[in-house]
Amino acid sequence: MDCVKAHTHLKGTVCHQFLFLTFWLSGFQDLMALQVPPGPSRFSSMSMLASHPSSSIFEPIQISPAVIPHNPFPLESLPPMYPSFPTTYIPVLTGRCPVNFSAISSIMDKTASDCSQPLAALVGNVVCCPQFSSFLHIFQGYYSLSSDNLVLQNAVADDCFKDIINILGSRGANSSIPTICSVKSSNFTGGSCPVKDIMTFERKVNTSKLLEACSTVDPLKECCRPVCQPAIKDAALEISVSQLLMSDNKNTAGQPTSVDVLNDCKGVVYSWISRKLSSDAANTAFRILSACKVNKVCPLDFKQPSEVINACRNVAAPGPSCCSSLNTYIAGIQKQMLITNRQAIICATVFGSMLQKGGVITDIYKLCDVDLKDFSLQGCLLRSLPADVVFDNSTGFSFTCDLSDNIAAPWPSSPSFSSLSLCGPEMSLPALPTSETLGNPGSRGAELDHLILALLFFIISTFLYGDM
Ligand SMILES: *[C@@H]1O[C@H](CO)[C@@H](O)[C@H](O)[C@H]1NC(C)=O
Ligand SMILES: *[C@@H]1O[C@H](CO)[C@@H](O)[C@H](O)[C@H]1NC(C)=O
Ligand SMILES: *[C@@H]1O[C@H](CO)[C@@H](O)[C@H](O)[C@H]1NC(C)=O
Ligand SMILES: *[C@@H]1O[C@H](CO)[C@@H](O)[C@H](O)[C@H]1NC(C)=O
Ligand SMILES: *[C@@H]1O[C@H](CO)[C@@H](O)[C@H](O)[C@H]1NC(C)=O
Repeated sequence: MDCVKAHTHLKGTVCHQFLFLTFWLSGFQDLMALQVPPGPSRFSSMSMLASHPSSSIFEPIQISPAVIPHNPFPLESLPPMYPSFPTTYIPVLTGRCPVNFSAISSIMDKTASDCSQPLAALVGNVVCCPQFSSFLHIFQGYYSLSSDNLVLQNAVADDCFKDIINILGSRGANSSIPTICSVKSSNFTGGSCPVKDIMTFERKVNTSKLLEACSTVDPLKECCRPVCQPAIKDAALEISVSQLLMSDNKNTAGQPTSVDVLNDCKGVVYSWISRKLSSDAANTAFRILSACKVNKVCPLDFKQPSEVINACRNVAAPGPSCCSSLNTYIAGIQKQMLITNRQAIICATVFGSMLQKGGVITDIYKLCDVDLKDFSLQGCLLRSLPADVVFDNSTGFSFTCDLSDNIAAPWPSSPSFSSLSLCGPEMSLPALPTSETLGNPGSRGAELDHLILALLFFIISTFLYGDM
C-alpha cells in the first residue's frame, strides 16, 4: 500500500503510521479487555499512540508509557515522555459577577481543556476559539435567565469576563485566550445592536422559526445547505433594522457600520438561542456553525516561496533540488498549527496558486509526493468538525486526527483561483464524519475509517520547550 510508494522525505512517514497504528490497535484491544467497557465515544480519549514525526524534526518517535503493558523502560528514562497535567487551583474571583458558575461547570471544563495551556494557540483557530466563543454565548444566555436582557451591562461584563478567564485558567487553560481568540468583554454587551431585551426580541423575531432551524443542527448538511445560519441572519436583520437605517443615513465617522450592527445583533440572537437550549445542545449547534466558517479559509501564513519558485520554475520534470526546497518550505508551514482536512485542501490550493503565479507550471505536489496532511502540524489533519481536546488524568491532553484522509494535495487548475467551494458533487472528498461510523468502535471497518491518532500533550511540549 502507501508504504511501498513512500520515498521522499515527507512521504517516508506514511509507512511509520501504519506500523504504529497496528501496534496501537493491538495495544488498544488489550486495554479495552483489561479495563474499559467499550463505549462509542470514549474511543478517542483512550487512544494513546504518539504521533509519527512528519519530518526528522520530530524524531524520535515517542509512545506514551500508558500504551505499553509491561513497561520495558527504567523509570528514570521516562520523564520526558510523560504527559503533563494542568495545575489546577482555586481561582480568585472579582466577587462582582452575579453568576453561579457551578451550573455551567461542565461546559467550562470542556472549554478549559480545548484551550489548555500550550495547545491553545496550536488549536486556536479550529478548536479553542470556536469552543471559547460558544461558551461565551452560552454564558450570556445563562446570565439572561435571571434578567430581562439578553446581554450584560458594561460594568458587569468586565468583571464577568475576568472571572471567566480566571476560572478557565484555574482549570489549565491558557490565560492568553482573549488575545489568541481576539475576544473582549465588550463581546458580552451586544454592542451596537439596538435590541437587547427579551421582550422586544421576541416581538420582532419569529422565534419559533429560529428555534426550529437551530435547535438541532445537522453537521452533514449545515455547511453546504445551511438552515440555522440563514435563520440567525434573518433574526439579526429583524432586530437591527432601525439601527441599519440610521447608520445608512448618517454615515459619520465613529458610527458603527451596518456590518458591525449585524454582527452585534447576531451575538444577541446566539444569546437568545442559548437561553432556550440546554448548554450541551447549544454548544453542539454553535460548534457546527463555527466549523462551517472555519473550513472556508486557510489559516496558515505563507511567506513568499521564492526559493521553491526558483528551484521549480520552468521545469517539466523538477529534480531533487525542487522537491527538497518544496519539502523544506512545507515542513516550515507545518509547524504553524493544526488544521482540518478541508482547510488543508484550501491551503494546498492557495499555496499552489502562489507557485503557479511565480511560474511553476508542473504539478509539483504530485511529483514531490506532497499530501494534504503535510500541511498540518505533525501531519495530523483534524476532522472537518474537529473533536474536543480530551483530558484524561492518566494520559494528559490528547486530540484526534483523521487518518482516513491520506489524500494527495490538489494542484489548482489555474493560478487565478479566488475562492474554492467544497460544496457540490465533490463535497464528499474528505467527508464530515457520519454518526454511524463515529459511534461504532466494534466494527473493524469503521475503526480503520476513523482511526484515531492521538497526539499527546507531551509531544507538543517537547516540541515547544524541548527542542527550540
Ligand atoms: C450554585 O448552583 C449549584 C448547582 O447548580 C447549587 O448546588 C449551589 O447551591 C448554587 N450556589 C449558590 C450560591 O446559589
Ligand atoms: C499561552 O499561549 C501563548 C500564545 O500562544 C503562548 O505564548 C504561551 O506560552 C502559552 N502559555 C503557556 C503557559 O503555555
Ligand atoms: C467580538 O467582538 C469583535 C468586535 O466587536 C468581533 O470582531 C468578534 O467577532 C467578536 N467575537 C465573538 C466571539 O463574538
Ligand atoms: C414564523 O415562521 C413559521 C415557519 O416559517 C411560519 O409558519 C409562521 O407563520 C411564522 N410566524 C409569523 C408570526 O410570521
Ligand atoms: C482520575 O480522576 C478520577 C475522577 O476525578 C479519579 O477518581 C481517579 O483517581 C483519577 N486517577 C488518577 C490516576 O489520578
